[in-house]
Order: sequence, then C-alpha cells, then structure tokens
Amino acid sequence: MTSKVTPVITIDGPSGAGKGTIAQNLATALEFHILDSGSLYRLTALAARDDGIDLSDESRIADLALNLHVEFIPTDTGLQVLLRDEDVTEAIRKEEVGMDASKVAALPKVRKALLERQRSFSDQPGLVADGRDMGTAVFPHALLKIFMTASLEERAERRYKQLKAKGVNVNIAALVKDLKLRDKQDANRAESPLKPAEDAILLDTTTMTIEEVTQKVLELAKQRLA
Ligand code: DC
Repeated sequence: MTSKVTPVITIDGPSGAGKGTIAQNLATALEFHILDSGSLYRLTALAARDDGIDLSDESRIADLALNLHVEFIPTDTGLQVLLRDEDVTEAIRKEEVGMDASKVAALPKVRKALLERQRSFSDQPGLVADGRDMGTAVFPHALLKIFMTASLEERAERRYKQLKAKGVNVNIAALVKDLKLRDKQDANRAESPLKPAEDAILLDTTTMTIEEVTQKVLELAKQRLA
C-alpha cells in the first residue's frame, strides 16, 4: 500500500510581512492544517521567562522546548493558544515576546528541539506553514514555497495599525527599530537563517492588499495542487 504524500505550502519572510494573515486565509480556503512556527519560538521564550531561565542558557531552553506543553485550539476567530493550560493567545503577540523569541531562535539546540514538533503538523489533506525556515529547513520538499517580503516602512505601518486596532499604544519609530533589529538577528544567525529557499517564489507585497496577496498565493497553490 502506498501512502499519499501530504501537500505542504510554506510561507517564509521577515517579521510583519503579513505571512500569518495570508497563511490563515490560505488554510481556510484550502481547508488545510496550519502551522504558525513563530508561535512555538514565542511560547518557548515565554516559558523560559516564566521559569526564570536566562535566554542564553541553550541546554535548558532546548529541554524546555522539547517538553513544552502547548495546545492550539481552533476557534471562529483563529487559533487559541494554551501554554501549560493557560490561555496565552494575546500574551505571545507582544513585541517583547517577539524579540525574546528571536533570541532563543538563534540557539541551534532549540531549533533542533522544535524540528519534529513542527513536522508533526503535516497531515492530510495538507498544511500551510509560515515562519523563517519552513521552505529551507523544516519542509525542504514542500509543494509550494513562497518568500514574502514588504518594505521595512510598510511592515512597520501594518504592525502599527494592527496594534492600534487592539488598543495598544505604540510608536512607529520604535516599531521600525524593533523590526530592523529582528530582521538582522533572524537573517544573520548561523543556524537556519532567514533566507529564501532556492526554489521559492518571491513575492513583494509592499503595494498589494491582503485580498490581492491571498488571491495570488491561492492561484499558485491551486496550480501546484492540480
Ligand atoms: O513569526 P514571528 O514574528 O511570530 O516569529 C517570532 C520570532 O521567532 C522571529 O523573530 C524569529 C523566530 N522564528 C524563527 O526563527 N523561525 C521560524 N520558523 C519562525 C520564527
């Protein structure tokens, strides 16, 4: 008996490029599973802070990542995220947690600890996975790989509007600084740095709307799935 290969679509790119929104739209349209890999790094960082572990203590954080008790529960408004049975859906989205996640993500043992957990999300009828190394390291045989970018200013503007809508007071200059630093950290680390896979399709979304990007990616996905 031959088992059917699960189609995987990867969306990688820098922070704030809109990967999460597009991944969600695509997964909904195709009725695929979804993996927000950044949330696993965010959860690891949050758990490390909770446990008072120094963010450079590679072995302890890798151990934490390997044994992390997390649950993703689908709801009408997206995924609800539980860490050790506590709802951290909002908490993991904070800017400082993103920055901490970027730090722990640079530790090779932590990346290794999360590898199999990420791969286990791949299941029929298919998976949409977003992150930094989905197409290069985690799912190198993905059916379709998208590398999504947007200018630094546009990404900061999108993040600003998102946070503002949630009632969070932010300063756009601070967001630009934050994104720049995270881009640098994520692209310059030795292990699985942020970069397009050789067979990725590059998509600059700076002047595109969410609907336009969703349509474009959905079109590409349908071509490959046909
Ligand atoms: O996508 P995000 O902003 O939620 O990710 C938070 C951080 O986690 C990001 O700055 C880098 C890291 N990350 C990673 O190294 N590899 C991934 N596949 C996803 C996220």
